[in-house]
Amino acid sequence: MSTGLLLIWLISFFHLISMSTSSKETSFVFNSFGQENLSLDGSATLLPNGLLQLSKDSQHQMGHAFIKKPIVFSSSKPLSFSTHFVCALVPKPGFESGHGITFVISPYVDFTRAQPTRYMGVFNASTHGSPSFHLFAVELDTVRNTDFLETNNNHVGIDVNNPISVESAPASYFSKTEQKNVSINLSSGKPIQVWVDYQGTLLNVSVAPLEAEKPSLPLLSRSINLLELFQSKRLFVGFSAATGTAISYHYLLGWSFSTSMESLKLLDISKLPLVPSPRLKHKTPYVLIIALSVGVGIIVIAVLAGFYYHRKKKYAEVSEPWEKRYVTDRFSYKSLYIATKGFHKDRFLGRGGFGEVYRGDLPQNRTVAVKRVSHDGEEGMKQFVAEVVSMKSLKHRNLVPLLGYCRRKGELLLVSEYMPNGSLDQHLFDDQTPVLSWSQRLVIVRGIASALFYLHREAEQVVLHRDIKASNVMLDAELNGRLGDFGMARFHDHGSNAATTAAVGTVGYMAPELITMGASTVTDVYAFGVFMLEVACGRKPVEFEVQVEKRFLIKWVCECWKKDSLLDAKDPRLGEEFVPEEVELVMKLGLLCTNIVPESRPAMGQVVLCLAGNLPLPDFSPYTIGIGSFTPVVVDAASLNVSFTSRNWSAPSASSSSANNSKEVEHPLESKNSLNVVSEPEVIESSLQDKQWQIMKFSLEQSS
Ligand SMILES: *[C@@H]1O[C@H](CO)[C@@H](O)[C@H](O)[C@H]1NC(C)=O
Ligand SMILES: *[C@@H]1O[C@H](CO)[C@@H](O)[C@H](O)[C@H]1NC(C)=O
Ligand SMILES: *[C@@H]1O[C@H](CO)[C@@H](O)[C@H](O)[C@H]1NC(C)=O
Ligand SMILES: *[C@@H]1O[C@H](CO)[C@@H](O)[C@H](O)[C@H]1NC(C)=O
Ligand SMILES: *[C@@H]1O[C@H](CO)[C@@H](O)[C@H](O)[C@H]1NC(C)=O
Repeated sequence: MSTGLLLIWLISFFHLISMSTSSKETSFVFNSFGQENLSLDGSATLLPNGLLQLSKDSQHQMGHAFIKKPIVFSSSKPLSFSTHFVCALVPKPGFESGHGITFVISPYVDFTRAQPTRYMGVFNASTHGSPSFHLFAVELDTVRNTDFLETNNNHVGIDVNNPISVESAPASYFSKTEQKNVSINLSSGKPIQVWVDYQGTLLNVSVAPLEAEKPSLPLLSRSINLLELFQSKRLFVGFSAATGTAISYHYLLGWSFSTSMESLKLLDISKLPLVPSPRLKHKTPYVLIIALSVGVGIIVIAVLAGFYYHRKKKYAEVSEPWEKRYVTDRFSYKSLYIATKGFHKDRFLGRGGFGEVYRGDLPQNRTVAVKRVSHDGEEGMKQFVAEVVSMKSLKHRNLVPLLGYCRRKGELLLVSEYMPNGSLDQHLFDDQTPVLSWSQRLVIVRGIASALFYLHREAEQVVLHRDIKASNVMLDAELNGRLGDFGMARFHDHGSNAATTAAVGTVGYMAPELITMGASTVTDVYAFGVFMLEVACGRKPVEFEVQVEKRFLIKWVCECWKKDSLLDAKDPRLGEEFVPEEVELVMKLGLLCTNIVPESRPAMGQVVLCLAGNLPLPDFSPYTIGIGSFTPVVVDAASLNVSFTSRNWSAPSASSSSANNSKEVEHPLESKNSLNVVSEPEVIESSLQDKQWQIMKFSLEQSS
C-alpha cells in the first residue's frame, strides 16, 4: 500500500520535474523553412517552396543558415540535444559533387572569416586545431581531403574545433529490412535523413534515406564533453555548406531540434518541399542541346523544303482544268528541262520570231526542237492551246510537225520535230553553209507552196501562217523545205495589244493592206511571193547596203525584167547550174504574188500549179498595175505603230473584211482570186475559177 502511494508520489514528482524542465526546453520543427526564424548569409537562400538552399551553382561559395535566437541551454542540467534533419546534396551536372553540409553548434554566427571548400564554410586554415576556437559540427562530406586524413568522399564525420574529424565513417545505415549495413550515396541528390543525439557525454549520429526509419544502431557514436567545449550556454544552431571546384546544390528540406531527446518533434515527411531535379534546375545545357538539335532539324527541314520547293518551282507548270483534254499533247516541263540540259546555251538553235529555240534530246533517241515563247497574259491562252493542239492534227510533209506543248507561268513551250539542217535563211545568206543548188531551191519553193496551200485550203480550218520567210522555213535531213512556226503569229496576237494585232509579220514580207485589212490568205500569198524572190535572188527583201535601185528586191526584180534581163536578179552563187525558165518562172510568180492589189494575187493553189508547170502564168508584164511596186510597211518598233509609205496605192474595195479570222472557212477571196490583174473584167475571172480549181486539185492528188 505504502509502496503504491510512494510510486504515485514518485510519478507525480518526476512529472513535475519534467514539467519544469520542459518549460526550459527549446524545441522547434520546420517542415519547410520561412524567412522569419532564420538568419541567412553567403550563398544561402530560401526558395519559394520553403526549401532552404545553402549553396548556389558557383564555385568557392559558402552559405549559412542559423536560428536567429540562440538556444539557451540549462546550466543546471547536463547539456543535451537532439536533432533530426533532412537534406539533399545535388551535384551540379558536369561537376564533381562538393563539398558538403555541416550541422553546426557555435557560440557565434559570424562566419565571414571562415573558408569554403574543405573548411566547409565554418573553419579556416588558422582555426585548424586552435585552442581558442570553439565549434562543434557534424559533416556530410562528399570530397575526400587526404590532408584531413579522410579516407572517403562519401563520409559522415564529427568535428570538434577542427575540420579534421574526431570520428568519421562512410555514409551507411543499418537497414532493419535487410538486416545489414547499407551504404548511402550522399551525392545521389536524394533526400537523406540525419539524426544527431547528444545525451550525457555520448554523441550519436545516424543517417538514412528518406524512406527508412531511424536506424537502431547509430553510424557514429562518440563520447564528447560539449560542456567543456562551450563556455557559453547560449549557442546558435544551424547549417553551413560550401563549394570548391566541385559543386553541389545543398538543400535543407526540414529540421526538427530539441534540447531534449524526448520532446523532439517529428518531421512530417509528407510536408517537406520537393528538391528540384538537377535536370530541371540546370536545364540550360539540355535546353541548349534540344534547342540546337531542334534548330539544326529546322534548318535541315528548311533546306530540304527549300530544295523541294526550288525543284517544284523549277519544274512548275501551269495547268488548268480545261487543259485536261490536251493531256496527251502536253510535255512535262521537267522532261523538256532535262532534254535541253536546262536550256543550256550548247543546245541553243536560234532565235525565232517569238522565242528562243533549243534542241532537246528526249529518251529513246528522240530529238526535238523546243521553242520557249514568253507570254504575259493568260488571256486567249485557252484558244491558243486549242489551236496549238489542233495544229498537231495538221499533217503535211512540208510542215514541221508540232508534237505538243507545255505551259508555265508567263511561258509557253512548243515542242516540234527537230530539223537537222536548220533554217533556210542560213543556207541562203550564210557563207559558211554550202550553196543550195537551183534544183534544191525549186524543191523547197514547191514544198512550201504546197504546205501553204494545205494550210489555206486543205486543212479542216483555214490556217494563216502570217510570217512566211526564209528563216521560218526549216530543212529536214533530205533538204526538203518545211514550214515552221505556223499559227505563231496568231498566238502573238493574243499576247499583244489589240491595236497592233492586225499587222503582224516581218518587214519586207508584209502586204501593204495588212494595216488596214489585217491578215488573210492573200497576205500569206504576198509573203510567199517575197519568199520566192528571196530564194531565187539569194538576198533579203530589203537591203540598205546596196545601190539605191537594188534596195527593194521586188522593185529591182521588176526593173531587171523591164530591162529584159530578169536573170540578172538571180542569186549569183547559183553559177551556171540552173534552168533559166524555172528561175524566171519563180521570179515572175514572185512578182505576181507581191502585187500590191490583194485581189490580183493568185491563190496558193494556183501558185502550186504554176510551180509544177501545170498552169501557165497569166499574161502580165512588169508594167502591169500593181506589179513590182514595193510599198514597204514601216514598223515603228517603239510604238509598234504601223504605217505604210505608198503614195499611189488605193485601198482595195472590200472583200477581206473578216480577214483577221483564221477560223474562217468561207474565204471571201475565193470568188475574187484570179490570175488576172484586177483591172480586167470580173466575168472572165469567175469563169476561170472553177476550172482552174479542178485542175489544181487533180494535180495535187497526183503529186502526193
Ligand atoms: C518562427 O517565427 C515565428 C515568428 O517569430 C514564430 O511564430 C514561429 O513559431 C517560429 N517558428 C519556429 C519553427 O520556430
Ligand atoms: C579564422 O577564423 C577565426 C575565427 O573566426 C578568425 O579569428 C581568424 O582570423 C581566421 N583566420 C583567417 C586566416 O581568416
Ligand atoms: C554496421 O555498421 C556499424 C557502424 O559502423 C558497425 O558497428 C556494425 O558492425 C556494422 N554491422 C554490420 C552487419 O556490418
Ligand atoms: C552517387 O550518386 C551520384 C549522382 O547520381 C553519382 O554521380 C555517383 O557516381 C554516385 N556515387 C556512387 C559511389 O555510387
Ligand atoms: C547512442 O547509441 C547507443 C548504442 O550505440 C545507445 O546505447 C545510446 O543510448 C545512444 N545515445 C543517445 C543519446 O541516443
